[in-house]
Amino acid sequence: MSETALPLVVAITGASGAPYAVRLLEALVAARRTVWLIVSGHGWRLLHTECGITDGDALRQRVGAAGWDAQVTIFADTDRGGSPASGSARTAGMVICPCSMGTLSAISLGTSRSLIERAADVTLKERRTLVVVPRESPLSAIHLENMLRLTKAGAVVLPASPGFYHRPSRIDELVDFVVARVLDHAGVPHEIVPRWQGGAGVPDA
Ligand SMILES: Cc1cc2nc3c(=O)[nH]c(=O)nc-3n(C[C@H](O)[C@H](O)[C@H](O)COP(=O)(O)O)c2cc1C
Repeated sequence: MSETALPLVVAITGASGAPYAVRLLEALVAARRTVWLIVSGHGWRLLHTECGITDGDALRQRVGAAGWDAQVTIFADTDRGGSPASGSARTAGMVICPCSMGTLSAISLGTSRSLIERAADVTLKERRTLVVVPRESPLSAIHLENMLRLTKAGAVVLPASPGFYHRPSRIDELVDFVVARVLDHAGVPHEIVPRWQGGAGVPDA
């Protein structure tokens, strides 16, 4: 089976940034990728607070029911026996978007106390791509050390910090900026933002 035919594990946790998660799911469904989705309890809370999405059916409707039914399988975060919990289940890797500092910490310590934490642990031990998208500010020494430990273990720490060199004027452009970088690192082709072609520099004063 080719890498692109394998499921991509996507986790949504309770950091601010639920719009990134919704856009990521839309882009993956548009790219016809199979998704294994896990949402933490606080992931659902933030989907509600930030996007008005109350449950799995509302998320399905937002992403698009037809693509969702064909491509997305949802697993309970409380079920550590779900398919993503085993290294024998082949996947194309995992994206945690957004990733709370709590989940990031747990993964960096290998605690595996939920399906999200276990799936991330498996992704690292199987030497697959793990992309985590933290959102917190400011960062404590604990946060930074956890991110460094995850990076040393092979994860890509991709903060939800959009750039402004495309001169965005709408929130969805800021969201797309971050989601485009996530898709790049997850190996998913996309054209949701134009690629930087270089620009005019500032003349010397
Ligand atoms: C409205 C709201 C916003 C939050 N924003 C963040 C955030 O940006 N980053 C973060 O690390 N935690 C944030 N939290 C805290 C996490 O949701 C909390 O630590 C939770 O236990 C994380 O659990 P989870 O990783 O299982 O989703 C927020 C909580 C709430 C209620």
